[in-house]
Amino acid sequence: MANFISLPFYDLLAENSHVATMREKLPPVLAGVHRSVLEIGAGSGLITVSLAEWTSAELFALEPSAGMRGMLLSRLSEQPELLERVTVLPYDALSLDLDEPVEAMVMINVMYALEPDYRKRVWPVLAKHLEPGGLLVFTWRDGGLPAPRPLKELDSRRVGRHTYTVSSEIFESDEESFRGRYVYRITQGDKVISEEELVGHGYRPTWETIQGELVGAGFVQADAPEGLLAWRLA
Ligand SMILES: C[S@@+](CC[C@H](N)C(=O)[O-])C[C@H]1O[C@@H](n2cnc3c(N)ncnc32)[C@H](O)[C@@H]1O
Repeated sequence: MANFISLPFYDLLAENSHVATMREKLPPVLAGVHRSVLEIGAGSGLITVSLAEWTSAELFALEPSAGMRGMLLSRLSEQPELLERVTVLPYDALSLDLDEPVEAMVMINVMYALEPDYRKRVWPVLAKHLEPGGLLVFTWRDGGLPAPRPLKELDSRRVGRHTYTVSSEIFESDEESFRGRYVYRITQGDKVISEEELVGHGYRPTWETIQGELVGAGFVQADAPEGLLAWRLA
């Protein structure tokens, strides 16, 4: 599994990036979902708490990373009502095990981490745990992968006297995957307080690939705004 995430940086930088967009785009796609939602790769719970605002459904938040789950549970603990309504599943998507199928599944910014062979095996597992006609929504972008490039700063935030900066370098990329490194640095002026480097692969399947895999697993495409794909179990 690719992991380009540095836990202490996650919430600091995520609110600046995809979370605000998803909070705009997801609610209309999920309108009409009332019984149950599974969130795959819930991370620190930034989307989970929004799901709980948009729907009164029972929520299942699946997250394999213990560090991420720690942040998620800490976020849920701030709202006792959520501790009643959200079940946290401490394993990866292929290990999914639910008492009964859910009405909808949401997977935000997770696919980049799934190796192609793993991803192909995941769709039938999700299909098995979705109600007939149930909805699967996930982030997806067409247009290929970033071309190789040197280290570039992506974002930074001030925290007291320190600056938290993330940079990335792309070593090589082909049609559906890339190899790169992410560098997470905490600095005070010119002084580096800490630095963490994560090297690995990321994946972005083409439209033909994703369509073939989902149709093969019994899904039919539904409408979704740009940046998201929605599929229903036939
Ligand atoms: C970029 S984070 C996104 C977290 C959250 N969805 C959000 O939008 O804030 C990707 C998450 O996917 C999780 N993940 C990676 N591989 C996974 C797998 N095989 N099954 C389920 N989750 C996975 C990671 O642990 C991480 O928390």
